[in-house]
Amino acid sequence: MLTRRQVAIACAAFASGGLVGARFGISEPVPFSTYLPIPDLVDAAKQGNAVRLKAAIGRYAFLKGKPTQSYGYSAPILGPVLRVRRGENVEMAVENALDVPTTVHWHGLLGPGETDGGPHQTIDHGRTWRPMLNIDQPAATLWYHPHPHHDTGRQIYMGLAGMIVIDDGSDLRLGLPHRFGIDDLPIILQDRAFGSDGALKYELDSLAVVYGARGDTVIVNGAIAPVAKVPPGLVRLRLLNGANAQNFELRFRDQRTFHVIASDAGFLAAPVPLTRLRISPAERFELLVNFADGKPVVLETGPDEAMGIFGTISDFGTDEYVPVMRFEPTAAVPPVKQLPRQLVEPTAADPTRAVRRRLFTLDNGLCLRRMQASAETSKGYLIGINGKTHDMGRIDVETKLGTCEVWEIVSIGMPHPFHVHGASFRVLSLNGASPPDHLAGWKDVVLVEQRAELLVAFNRPATHEHPFMYHCHILEHEDAGMMGQYVCA
Ligand code: C2O
Ligand code: CU
Ligand code: CU
Repeated sequence: MLTRRQVAIACAAFASGGLVGARFGISEPVPFSTYLPIPDLVDAAKQGNAVRLKAAIGRYAFLKGKPTQSYGYSAPILGPVLRVRRGENVEMAVENALDVPTTVHWHGLLGPGETDGGPHQTIDHGRTWRPMLNIDQPAATLWYHPHPHHDTGRQIYMGLAGMIVIDDGSDLRLGLPHRFGIDDLPIILQDRAFGSDGALKYELDSLAVVYGARGDTVIVNGAIAPVAKVPPGLVRLRLLNGANAQNFELRFRDQRTFHVIASDAGFLAAPVPLTRLRISPAERFELLVNFADGKPVVLETGPDEAMGIFGTISDFGTDEYVPVMRFEPTAAVPPVKQLPRQLVEPTAADPTRAVRRRLFTLDNGLCLRRMQASAETSKGYLIGINGKTHDMGRIDVETKLGTCEVWEIVSIGMPHPFHVHGASFRVLSLNGASPPDHLAGWKDVVLVEQRAELLVAFNRPATHEHPFMYHCHILEHEDAGMMGQYVCA
């Protein structure tokens, strides 16, 4: 818990504009001098649908020649991409070889509460957790990451995160690029801060608690400003924002148009052309980018526009774009050329079927309002939802299996990326308007700048013993208690 004095300092600094938050630079002397690391692919069906993951301490050199302690799943950092097929059951075995308790949550996977891997499913050091995952949802790009209450932010920052790809046959049917590591690339975007010795710097000072932990260096699959060789045609990028707090504002340096074909929970109805894309913590988007002109191009990110001065980037604290990675088309493999006109029509979402409406106010407890309130609460500081900090022993919401509800989310203090476990939702409105096309499909996390209305479909059961979470995906907010629990029966 922060002291009142620490909060006062953070507030004063914020009010005076005297602090510049995360600024991105390039720590490597030579950008684009390393190849994009591609995590291993574990195709579950090819190994009898039995998959082992081992969460362990590793060593990894983010900065050249400066290896440092990291965490990873069966790898020094991150973890393998797990490809699973719809309609199959996958027997997972997750061993905890860390020196702290952990959990593994399958973010976006629709399963019952028991297999969800939230804060209640602790895997103690030396133990193995064996959930049976029943894959029963459309093709999508998901991810897995730790979820132990109060330690999620640090464990992910140390390197624990991996991608999950659900395959339901639509790639072939739609003629989409699907050659893993060739024209279908996992792209895990994160930001990190390093000490001069190359060590990961995760400091939970009051600024990090109030605004989320932010670094000054962008990493892609763990590499700083890497380069990827791609076929001279359509390439599919499976983007995951695995950052603790940062929103990335992506564009190509030549401002080329690309197409968004999928968001968190699966395909959009049709490709959505864009020249810029914001991706918030935990969000996924699949893009098709056309490299048929054969020209190398840099993907870059701009200032975190949802964060004002705290999102300012580049060495000079200006609003410059900085490189994320570079793509170099080469003619080594035959490219996919044809952009599909239609993708997959999302299953209908009818708000008139909603059985009730609930309001969730997400508050990072910032500044004056709370400081005044502090006299009554005597804590001075409260990060939570609807005025309550997370309590693992309290069920906040009870839902009925097979129903949907309208959840209205209000953000106080700053924009919060709101996520729901065990369910997908459609964004009905964002800040009073209908969502842009690329946010109009089924999702499981959305950045709420002021307010949003979501139609949440509850189709998986969760008991009091293994409830589902809903929370802000700024991990420092989540760890500080901006999280609630619901059951579904
Ligand atoms: Cu990415 Cu509670 O989850
Ligand atoms: Cu989740
Ligand atoms: Cu938040």
